[in-house]
Amino acid sequence: KPDFFIAPSILSANFAFLGNEIKAVIDAGADWIHFDVMDNHYVPNLTFGPMVCQAIKPYATVPIDVHLMVEPVDDMINAFASAGADIITFHPEASKHVDRSLSLIKVAGCKAGLVLNPATPVYVLEQVMDKLDVILLMSVNPGFGGQSFIPSTLEKIRQVRSIIDTYANNNGRHIRLEVDGGVKIDNIAEIAKAGADTFVAGSAIFGFEDYGKQISAMREQLAK
Ligand code: DX5
Ligand code: ZN
Repeated sequence: KPDFFIAPSILSANFAFLGNEIKAVIDAGADWIHFDVMDNHYVPNLTFGPMVCQAIKPYATVPIDVHLMVEPVDDMINAFASAGADIITFHPEASKHVDRSLSLIKVAGCKAGLVLNPATPVYVLEQVMDKLDVILLMSVNPGFGGQSFIPSTLEKIRQVRSIIDTYANNNGRHIRLEVDGGVKIDNIAEIAKAGADTFVAGSAIFGFEDYGKQISAMREQLAK
């Protein structure tokens, strides 16, 4: 079985107590902290930037997974790397030069990834596989927490799993396959079966009183 990671999205946390929320969700078993950056331009919502990332860094004893939903991308890369980001992912539609943006992330010392929207075809991955540490598949249209998982994502996960495995066989590099949007206790097993190994969950964790109970229930499903 793959080494499954759970990445709670703090988009659904209580922003008035962000440090405590992060500590609580790490105590509850989070592997990564998923940090959704929205700019009211690339997506129709506005969240937080590098200053907030820097403020939460001391609380984040696990890697911070920065999901950039901003356009343009490049100016934000060094800002987030300096603010303590460990992984930076962006949407290819938001960068004029995808290969350059990926290189900037690597040069800044972070792990890099591309995020594909539900309607974005997988062929954009082909020429940049050597620069990817993570491929993030959106299973909702980006911009908001609490949306429903789009079922056609399952087939796309299978496709990308096979691309990653073929690449890994030839190059011995490990690329994580992360899924973001509408991940719940009752669909996580199916998503894992399709080939995902890293699961973002916002409302399915922060929408409940006991974060540990939610994460344990997810892991129980993954162990099946
Ligand atoms: C959506 C964000 C997601 C979101 C997931 O644009 O990228 O990370 O917070 O939230 P849930 O798990 O509630 O669908
Ligand atoms: Zn996200």
